[in-house]
Amino acid sequence: KVVAVIMVGGPTKGTRFRPLSFNTPKPLFPLAGQPMVHHPISACKRISNLAQIFLIGFFEEREFTLYVSSISNELKIPVRYLKEDKPRGSAGGLYYFRNIIMEDNPSHIFLLNCDVCCSFPLTDMLEAHKRYGGMGTVSAETANQFGELVADPITKELLHYTEKPETFVSDLINCGLYIFTPDIFTAIQEVSSHREDQANLRHLSTFEALQSPTRTFPLDFVRLDQDILSPFAGKKQLYTYETMDFWEQIKTPGMSLKCSGLYLSQFRFTSPDLLAGGDGTKSALIVGDVYVHPSAKVHPTAKIGPNVSISANVRIGAGARLINCIVLDDVEVQENAVVINSIVGWKSSIGKWSRVQADGDYNAKLGITILGEAVMVEDEVVVINSIVLPNKTLNLSVQDEIIL
Ligand code: GDD
Repeated sequence: KVVAVIMVGGPTKGTRFRPLSFNTPKPLFPLAGQPMVHHPISACKRISNLAQIFLIGFFEEREFTLYVSSISNELKIPVRYLKEDKPRGSAGGLYYFRNIIMEDNPSHIFLLNCDVCCSFPLTDMLEAHKRYGGMGTVSAETANQFGELVADPITKELLHYTEKPETFVSDLINCGLYIFTPDIFTAIQEVSSHREDQANLRHLSTFEALQSPTRTFPLDFVRLDQDILSPFAGKKQLYTYETMDFWEQIKTPGMSLKCSGLYLSQFRFTSPDLLAGGDGTKSALIVGDVYVHPSAKVHPTAKIGPNVSISANVRIGAGARLINCIVLDDVEVQENAVVINSIVGWKSSIGKWSRVQADGDYNAKLGITILGEAVMVEDEVVVINSIVLPNKTLNLSVQDEIIL
């Protein structure tokens, strides 16, 4: 048997995701019409002999309760949310719940970061790991900038690991997908006790060590990368699995729009039934990959796509044009409005003949336009390359602005 653990983090981690993380935990933000965490979960479903999926985080339990029970029913596999009492780091969180994770006595544990967007080649990774042996396998990808992994080209052993290097170390980046044997728990335990010993050596009590200005993390805060991958590299314990497929990290709203498009195009192969246009029930003109929630009402003369994702209860009026955008629950886009390279927040409304648009540079601060929750754009108003915080009404056009 195997189990999967998805690290979902907590509220303090979502700051770069504002204003979209104000009232929705980032892991539940919809990409291609499905919560972000749904994509790794449905990839886990394809692993054979999977006993359970755990989400570990420090968001409030109630924020995940509904989601976790509906996805468990839908996929017919137990999905459980395990709430940390405080942030313990990616390895510390895993260790904290070791007894629950080991309930089914799994031979392998998949560990996935929730904020990566890729094709999740988990079964291939497991096969590769079994060939390599050792305590774990890390998936890797060719980096755009500086990579952090150095692997042996023949044996694929992880030889060296530097977290977030500022100069060239290698051209391989850690993709945030791992497979471990239960030995990982011993490794984390070793790291924590080593720290404790060091603190004691310095004649500090644990309490003083926690207060020490030189120590930024508590003793039980263990990071997977710096504290586990770095020290265990080059010891024939860790290996790398290199993928050639798409891979992105979802740290900003701009990247969520890009990743929504990547997942929509993947639906062509994995879930074509989720894409609009194929079944003839949506009569609007659909261009490219588009998701429309069944409860949304799209006027037949609207033109939608490519890369558009329309959530529940959205209404799109006659003659509206939507390109490269995420439209969240309960939004109204009125007649002849245009939305391009933008994210439109829950319950917002875009007036007749208005335009909400941006250049579409996913990495620029104002490269996509974002309307927070319940923003009203009045008729004939143009909003370009701007971020609008929740509950604002715009009756004048704006460009390159953050409206607070
Ligand atoms: N439960 C829990 N508790 N989750 C956490 C915690 C924690 O204390 N800290 C981080 N996470 C979750 C985040 O939500 C995210 O899904 C994942 O763990 C990794 O987050 P970080 O540790 O903040 O790392 P990062 O995303 O900046 O970078 C790491 O992952 C990248 C790939 O996703 C590094 O390992 C990079 O080198 C790597 O490329």
